[in-house]
Amino acid sequence: MKRIAFLISGTGSNLRALLQSMGEDHPARPVLVLSNNPGAAGLKYAEDQGLATATLDHRAFASRAAFDEALLATLAPHAPDALCLAGFMRILGPDVIAAYPSRILNIHPSLLPKYPGLHTHDRALAAGDSEAGCSVHEVTEALDAGPLLGQARVPILPGDTAVTLAARVQGAEHLLYPAVLRRWAAGEALPLFLP
Ligand code: GRF
Repeated sequence: MKRIAFLISGTGSNLRALLQSMGEDHPARPVLVLSNNPGAAGLKYAEDQGLATATLDHRAFASRAAFDEALLATLAPHAPDALCLAGFMRILGPDVIAAYPSRILNIHPSLLPKYPGLHTHDRALAAGDSEAGCSVHEVTEALDAGPLLGQARVPILPGDTAVTLAARVQGAEHLLYPAVLRRWAAGEALPLFLP
């Protein structure tokens, strides 16, 4: 049974999809939901589910290294086997990555290696792409460039805006991330390509 800590910053729709997928038969269980944003809606959801939660407001730390040190200290008592980043809008430094080697997963709203970083939907639309999607990958020190664990594609339709495309991609995220986490926790072959 793998112990998973979830790291979020906002709405937590991926967190919700992941937690809802983790029934009795699941090879992993949530041990902590941590947010760098005290107002994250996902934090409230996790509390309502009776899960252990923690808030580490990054604005209270003088440096990224100090935040990372506090993050590791907050995680340690929960002894997670892996971290799942689900809309976590902070870049993790080398000490955190070294503490969980090949055990940090992230979801990114593009078909990596296309469009690492921010504003992925605007960039896909500006490029005239005919499809978009999302990727789950291992977190390494190279931003959004760690080994691919899964990918799901969606069409880009005439008249799409960044808002309509984001909603379509998020629907795919909510299928892909739970499917990848289940396989990862069970030690099954990855990457997974949907649909
Ligand atoms: C998702 O689109 C994810 O790909 C990106 O941040 C967003 C988080 O949304 N990294 P939510 O908080 O899971 O609703």
